[in-house]
Amino acid sequence: MNDFRELIQKYIKEVLFSEDEIQLRVSELAERINEDYQGLEPVLVAVLKGSTYFLSDLTRKIELPLSLDFIAIQSYGAHSETTGAVKLLKDLDEPIEGRDVIIIEDIIDTGLTINYLIRSLKARSPRSLRICTLLDKSARRLVPVEIAYRGFEIPDVFVVGYGLDFEQKFRNLPYIGVLDIDRVVEDFYG
Ligand code: IMP
Ligand code: MG
Repeated sequence: MNDFRELIQKYIKEVLFSEDEIQLRVSELAERINEDYQGLEPVLVAVLKGSTYFLSDLTRKIELPLSLDFIAIQSYGAHSETTGAVKLLKDLDEPIEGRDVIIIEDIIDTGLTINYLIRSLKARSPRSLRICTLLDKSARRLVPVEIAYRGFEIPDVFVVGYGLDFEQKFRNLPYIGVLDIDRVVEDFYG
């Protein structure tokens, strides 16, 4: 995978959400968080690495004395499939007991990853715990997930860009595009 432009031309089938569309929606989510957490000091827990672009734009539109923390988990499975087995790679730096926690995710697919996270964080007795996800691929849900803040509902396609990756690539696309995953797998892993 060498020439970035060539890669995009070959493997990005369509732009699902442009930079402008993303910013508009992120502003709407930030506004709702501003209202809901008035007078509070929430902790935003971002799930590394996919949510970092979203987190960066979202928090610059939130007018609250919030703090940030990060958690990294590894979901097992080939390429794009989650198996539900999850390993904690990096835990939070600070305790969240008594805090108002908002989990910031890039995408919720089967729901297995977030389900694991919720269980792990709830056990630490936060005052409240809500989910904010940029994308929701609800057609593939295996376990129910209650989402307080949802950017976009998307169909069952594999998306990259704006933080989302395929095998660590494409995160730095400024928009969200649909990856021709069959073609990528055939060309690079076939
Ligand atoms: P879940 O456990 O199936 O909900 O998987 C969620 C995780 O799978 C996300 O945090 C992503 O890392 C990854 N994932 C699921 N769908 C996509 C996609 O379309 N593009 C990129 N990553 C995805
Ligand atoms: Mg993720």
